[in-house]
Amino acid sequence: MMVPCRLQVNGAPVELVVRPADRLIDVLRGPLGLTGTKEGCGNGECGACTVLLGGRPVNSCLVLAIEADGGEVTTIEGLAGPGGGLSPVQQAFVERGGIQCGFCSPGMIVAAHALLCATPAPSEAQIREALVGNLCRCTGYAQIVESVMLAARRMAAAPAAGGHDG
Ligand code: FES
Ligand code: FES
Repeated sequence: MMVPCRLQVNGAPVELVVRPADRLIDVLRGPLGLTGTKEGCGNGECGACTVLLGGRPVNSCLVLAIEADGGEVTTIEGLAGPGGGLSPVQQAFVERGGIQCGFCSPGMIVAAHALLCATPAPSEAQIREALVGNLCRCTGYAQIVESVMLAARRMAAAPAAGGHDG
């Protein structure tokens, strides 16, 4: 059995036909070709699959596509900055070494972006708390926290540069 599913993905309407058991990550990476979202554990433990649903970070491996029907989804591809360049968070991760192998980075950056939309000047503790569900095997997290703090300072100085916030 296939069922219709309508989503707003990175600002664009999409209409799909999905299996009831298809997860949100399946339709993002499959028919929609948005392979920036990564699948690590597949059971809600690593955060690699984090996307925004209605502006809130969710593990897209734990959300059925039909549960997201009618919702607004923002993936890492939707966080581009003005002119299609890197968003402030992406740029800060590049500059501060918040990215090494890169597998955790899309989910980490989406989660950090959501934090900065809700809490523009977070403390280090707030950053660590917001990213507690996003695991990184490479960086030791210090560079990631520094990256988010740099992005926060830049977004506070130029709020319009924050990109699409889903
Ligand atoms: S792949 Fe979804 S939380 Fe790990
Ligand atoms: S950069 Fe490799 S898992 Fe985070």
